[in-house]
Amino acid sequence: MSTRKPAPAIYQIYPRSFQDTTGSGTGDLQGIIRRLDHVAALGVDAIWLSPIYVSPMIDGGYDIVDHKAIDPMFGTDADFDALVARAHGLGLQVYMDQVLNHTSDQSPWFQAAIAGDQAMADHYLWRDPKPDGTPPNNWLSQFGLPGWTWNHLRRQYYFSQFLPQQPSLNLRHPDVQAHIAAQMRGWRDRGVDGFRFDVVTAYLWDESLQDNPPSTPQVQAKVSGETWNTYTYQDHTYDMLPGDGAAYVEKLRAWAGDDAYLFGENTSGNQSIELAMQFTTPGRLDAVYTTDLPENRGSPASVADMIARADSLQRIAGWLSSHDQPRHGRPDASNAVLALQMAFLPGPWIIYQGEEWALPQPDLAKEDVTDPLDLLQWPDGPGREGSRVPMPWDPQAVGYGFTTGTPWLPLAWDRDRVARGQAEMARFYARIIGMRRDMGWDTADVVACMAKGDVLDITLRTQDGSQWRGVFSHGAGEPANLPAGPPAIVADAMDGGTTGWHGAIWNA
Ligand code: GLC
Repeated sequence: MSTRKPAPAIYQIYPRSFQDTTGSGTGDLQGIIRRLDHVAALGVDAIWLSPIYVSPMIDGGYDIVDHKAIDPMFGTDADFDALVARAHGLGLQVYMDQVLNHTSDQSPWFQAAIAGDQAMADHYLWRDPKPDGTPPNNWLSQFGLPGWTWNHLRRQYYFSQFLPQQPSLNLRHPDVQAHIAAQMRGWRDRGVDGFRFDVVTAYLWDESLQDNPPSTPQVQAKVSGETWNTYTYQDHTYDMLPGDGAAYVEKLRAWAGDDAYLFGENTSGNQSIELAMQFTTPGRLDAVYTTDLPENRGSPASVADMIARADSLQRIAGWLSSHDQPRHGRPDASNAVLALQMAFLPGPWIIYQGEEWALPQPDLAKEDVTDPLDLLQWPDGPGREGSRVPMPWDPQAVGYGFTTGTPWLPLAWDRDRVARGQAEMARFYARIIGMRRDMGWDTADVVACMAKGDVLDITLRTQDGSQWRGVFSHGAGEPANLPAGPPAIVADAMDGGTTGWHGAIWNA
């Protein structure tokens, strides 16, 4: 019998939008504590908290001033300790977000750099302009903005891979590394069990700072972002992952400790699965997640492609929605089929808050949107803010049970639809999360996988040698040649019966 480590089911909490307890209109740590019973009842193994650190919130908390301190808008150190204690009491591990690629431009380091402190400037990437005043090279930001921003005080450009308010950190710098290691140790000492590493594939650039070559059509199709995002026009040879990019995470492992659960976000669409494999060899991260599944709403072809390219699904976290990716909920049977398919895929599974109610992607008016990326690309952006609309705990209440004040985003929910999702889906999620663990699908190996049009047919062998077959029809009606005998489970929650979506699993 193998001793393969269980692959966790991880519930992602976007704290700003989870539960407000003060009437501020913004979620807080006490709110998470209040709602942890709901999370634990789903049977997940862990929660991942999106950033709660001090931040001007220009990029939704992913622009951090101080990684060691909790933003007062979320609560106090005591609230955090109470949250960790409550989570552990319920058997939930706590994973924190680590945004190491950049800081906020409000961070004391960056402000000191602007004020002329060269030692602090070396924590980032500052360069003189070319003689004609233009930036040092052709690098762009992943958000489709120029990669270089001019600062007249230093008379230099600095580099940022996302917003100009998120200057990229020089992660090769020993002082930067020492700082990161210390704050990570600090969170571990406070009981944190693991970390999610933001944009872990973006950390390093080539010191030669050469121009990136243009994309070939094949590369452009794979670089993350819409094809009209200029970022996809380049092959990111020099600004991302040169040489030791994947090996760098061995440092993260050393700083976090062998017993920490570590997973990372791959924003490099090019060679996504192959890169995920490089980042998860022994001594590196436990898992990496890519955008292949969410960008294709878990289509049979995307699952089969992932399985064909991955050495093992144990090292790839499956997911469909997040604070960055529009919610995949629809008012039909597809929710349950997709959830069952995700539960059946071996490896870790990340569930985004509210997905267990089949919440749909709400429509927001442009004047309500605060996310700079959505506004920049309006109306064709990723719809990040829609997926961040706060949780409708009580669909009949004023403020939907999220807040007694004015929510930071309007709660654009259809009350009846939310109520139906709450009545039917959460129970189904709890059931399949339990089955995934009890039947050993999470640690199983894939022995066969076939994607035929809109039908996915997967066979697993679990660590104790039993064989399971899952067949998932994405709107193509009931598949032919199903195994004989009754299935162990059928995706029957919220089944309108008219969509042609079917999913079931057999002990074969
Ligand atoms: C990650 C985060 C996203 C953020 C970006 C830059 O992709 O998930 O929300 O904007 O990193 O930090």
